[in-house]
Amino acid sequence: MKAILLAGGQGSRLRPLTLNTPKPIVPIFDRPFLRYQIELLKQVPEIDEIVLSLNYQPRRIEEVFGDGSDLGVQLRYVVEPQPLGTGGAIKFAAGPHPTGPVVVFNGDVLTSVDLPEVIALHRAREARATIVLTPVENPTAYGLVEADDLGNIRDFLEKPTADQITCDTINAGIYVLEGETLDRIPADTQFSIERGYFPSLIERSETFVAYTYRGYWIDIGTRQKYEQVHHDIMSGRFSAPPFEGAAGTALVSPGARIEDGAIIEGPCFIDAGAVIKSGARIGPNSVIGANCHVAEDAQIEGAILWPHTWVDRAARLGGLIAGRHCQFGRHVEVSGDAMLGDNSVITDFSRL
Ligand code: GDD
Ligand code: MG
Repeated sequence: MKAILLAGGQGSRLRPLTLNTPKPIVPIFDRPFLRYQIELLKQVPEIDEIVLSLNYQPRRIEEVFGDGSDLGVQLRYVVEPQPLGTGGAIKFAAGPHPTGPVVVFNGDVLTSVDLPEVIALHRAREARATIVLTPVENPTAYGLVEADDLGNIRDFLEKPTADQITCDTINAGIYVLEGETLDRIPADTQFSIERGYFPSLIERSETFVAYTYRGYWIDIGTRQKYEQVHHDIMSGRFSAPPFEGAAGTALVSPGARIEDGAIIEGPCFIDAGAVIKSGARIGPNSVIGANCHVAEDAQIEGAILWPHTWVDRAARLGGLIAGRHCQFGRHVEVSGDAMLGDNSVITDFSRL
């Protein structure tokens, strides 16, 4: 069975972080995001090929995962000549005349849904398509999906307005689709699976089934959610590596160097090659990427620093997210929810 990961979007809501790092490989602690999805797909022994559907900066993603052998999977990359939208991209990645079930994932959702169970439901119901639904507080940023008591989908409305909201379940971005049903998607044309394909299943009264999942689910596509996923994993609200069995603790890589007199307060993460000098304090909810340097008396709390960032003496950083190779000068103060792109330089005594 083939799995297609839709990983071609530009990640515009995570700019500037995604200018050099496409959303599917933004780091979550010490790993590229898609690694979590690939691990989830490994739960299904039948999946023998994972196709990454790419468009934006495909080479960077290929460089990270190669042929997949490091992760124990077989990966193939498909790059659209131009963005085809979610439906066009699935059609393009599935190739000509697909048959049987194909698993599709939006490349920015993190969840612990039981995928074998979803596939089993799809088979038991002999569905043409099955999608995972999940409840959220505000469905307006998602696809609103209404199902009846028997789990048949009755309505699919992408990005509803407030007055169109009739239930709290949304499209979780995880599907099992019968290859034959992709015939309604025009080839090489921009086409939305949410606005075109799903409504057409309902119009044609085809067996379109909901699997409702009430466990952990998040779309990491905005700043707030990207930050939240780190908090959730650190606190144990979502049990996932690298914090499995270590929730709430200060997780320090054996390859990091913490000098005597540095204060480290969990939950936080300090990656390999990082140096925390004496008198520095790393407070709760901080993520210090590989090879970062935190100088004497610097204080960091609730900040996410990607690798290779330099924090000079007595700087105070709170709440921000900073890309790779940033420099914070002496006595810099950054508070609030700043987002800084790669190579940002904040000079001594600056306040943001
Ligand atoms: N290859 C390719 N080509 N991938 C694309 C394209 C494209 O043209 N456009 C979007 N994608 C990928 C994105 O990279 C992302 O992984 C996924 O498709 C979904 O696109 P988003 O831009 O993140 O959509 P969204 O979050 O606003 O809404 C979608 O996800 C929600 C769940 O998170 C919809 O599927 C909603 O219905 C759903 O509720
Ligand atoms: Mg999204």
